[in-house]
Amino acid sequence: MDQILINGGYPLNGEVTVSGAKNAALPIIAATILTGGRFTFHNVPILKDIESIQALLVDMGAEVEFSDNTLSIDTGNLSDFEAPYEHVRKMRASILVLGPLLARMKRARVSLPGGCAIGARPIEQHLNGLSHLGAEISLAHGYVEASAQNLTGAEIYLDLPTVTGTENLMMAAVLAEGRTVLHNVAREPEITALADVLNLMGADISGSGSSTITINGVKELHPVTATIIPDRIETGTFMVAAALTGGEIVINTCEPTHLKELALKLEKTGAEIEYRDRSIRVRGSHPINSVDVKTMPYPGFPTDMQAQFMVLMSVANGFSVISENVFENRFIHVSELRRMGADITISGSHAMVRGVPELSGAPVMATDLRASASLILAGMIARGTTRINRVYHLDRGYDRIEKKFSRLGASIKRISV
Ligand code: EPU
Repeated sequence: MDQILINGGYPLNGEVTVSGAKNAALPIIAATILTGGRFTFHNVPILKDIESIQALLVDMGAEVEFSDNTLSIDTGNLSDFEAPYEHVRKMRASILVLGPLLARMKRARVSLPGGCAIGARPIEQHLNGLSHLGAEISLAHGYVEASAQNLTGAEIYLDLPTVTGTENLMMAAVLAEGRTVLHNVAREPEITALADVLNLMGADISGSGSSTITINGVKELHPVTATIIPDRIETGTFMVAAALTGGEIVINTCEPTHLKELALKLEKTGAEIEYRDRSIRVRGSHPINSVDVKTMPYPGFPTDMQAQFMVLMSVANGFSVISENVFENRFIHVSELRRMGADITISGSHAMVRGVPELSGAPVMATDLRASASLILAGMIARGTTRINRVYHLDRGYDRIEKKFSRLGASIKRISV
């Protein structure tokens, strides 16, 4: 098992290149199920979650090659319509195959994802939407079983703007008969990235990025070559790292427009931010001002940046309130940060953070993906050594991040124990 060892106290300086977005790549890879043929995707990040979805597709009969961030998938011989428990338990996002399997194979059998460390994470919006499109859905033995001879376009109102739910319904509706209008959908950039690839494949989708998406069903789709958009959460993690360590980082090949809300908050903490076309320069300043944050669906402050921002507030000057409005249990990192000397109290969905002069290094446990990133950030400013256990959470969603931080001047290394 790997651990990450960090000696704190080094400001970060230099340039870093952002990898492709995990949460854009996963639905786009699932979309290859929709039609047979060879797809090629560039800028695919090297991550455990990408390995997981590849393994799932291979089990269904796809041929996959991955080298130098280019992923080639041939779905010509796809024969299976099942996502078994062994895959789904490793990665909840496996649920993304449900919509496309139903559209192409007319049947899908997908293990129910269940909850995870950050919340219960139900999928009833996915299932209700698919029923509106005409699918017969039943739950048995921990699996969702769905079938539909013909999916038919429908007007669907989501109760909440679920990201993977919106993606599943878009993928199911592209081959449905007639028009589907999805209301109250998620507006994340990853939704637009998926819609762009589906349109390139021959789909007719408009409105992505807004809260209503219209899909005119088409008869067939074809394989394409596409490039995965940059990861906005990795970008945001580097932005916070610069603000936190008082360094100056230029983050290249990113998409600054995807990070407006985080950038506004960081500017309020005192960080200087300069935007260029495809890069952001962030310079940290001291003292760090305390700023309140509420997580919201895009374009609000991302829940996936909450843990990282909390580390910044834990050494800020004063008191801040961080409210988590997307997931019901996304404060698990708090107890680990407290062990490093942070002064944080939780009350329901609010974390009250009183800034302390410094954190101190400690052995800590990563509990989920973004919590792991927050512990790395904390370790980089803590006095002494921080040892992070269970870094497999980190490897699910950050492409060799310790190497990137090391090149920026952090004293960080991975060890096998
Ligand atoms: N929800 C329901 N019912 C549903 C669907 C969602 O109640 O049918 C609730 C969830 O329980 C949650 C909220 O709605 O409280 C938002 O969940 P959403 O469905 O939008 O999340 P997701 O699609 O499962 C994606 C990302 C997450 C990210 C969230 C929120 C992918 C593969 N995952 O999850 O990414 O936190 O959107 O932005 O796109 C991560 O990368 O670390 C990560 C967890």
